[in-house]
Amino acid sequence: MDIRRLTHADLPHLRQFWIEYWGAGFMVAHGEIYRPEQLSGFVVEADDEWLGLLTFIINGHELEVTSLDSLRAGHGIGTKLMNKVIEEAREKACTRVFLITTNDNLNALGFYQRRGFELVKIYRGAINETRKLKPNIPLIGENSIPLRDEIELEMIL
Ligand SMILES: CC(C)(COP(=O)(O)OP(=O)(O)OC[C@H]1O[C@@H](n2cnc3c(N)ncnc32)[C@H](O)[C@@H]1OP(=O)(O)O)[C@@H](O)C(=O)NCCC(=O)NCCS
Repeated sequence: MDIRRLTHADLPHLRQFWIEYWGAGFMVAHGEIYRPEQLSGFVVEADDEWLGLLTFIINGHELEVTSLDSLRAGHGIGTKLMNKVIEEAREKACTRVFLITTNDNLNALGFYQRRGFELVKIYRGAINETRKLKPNIPLIGENSIPLRDEIELEMIL
């Protein structure tokens, strides 16, 4: 299982990956649309198969994680990707790493908080807005919870 940086050649695969797992070839967070070509990222792979993917963007001294996916839960892939991006943030002299998850994603809320992230903001009803751009976002999300809000988590470096 290796981790490497995404390259320009990975863009079609990245777009396809997002369509398959997130229902569209772009991400939306706090009202902002993020497209693959704007982002950097890391991929965990074995025998050329993608097992995990993290994308991010750096603005000034802040690094935003724009997506994180692991296709083999509980094997350390998510942790490896998060450790890598935090290392990247330190190398680029960022003072804050932050990300958005949704109110239904109890698994992710636990995962990030166990790794030192803190809840900082709720964008109430943000997913109702995002649904206008991504109509296939379900009304009921994970854990049978109505999918409505974005929650911002941060780690201060
Ligand atoms: C959140 C997510 C990325 C976590 O990825 P993951 O690969 O399962 O993460 P890890 O394997 O590193 O950690 C999960 C658990 O497995 C355990 N684990 C870690 N390494 C392990 C290893 N080598 N062997 C066995 N278990 C391990 C960890 O203890 C961890 O539990 P903890 O959080 O209580 O510490 C994944 O669940 C996912 O892709 N979810 C769907 C998409 C999503 O919600 N993304 C986030 C949106 S913001």
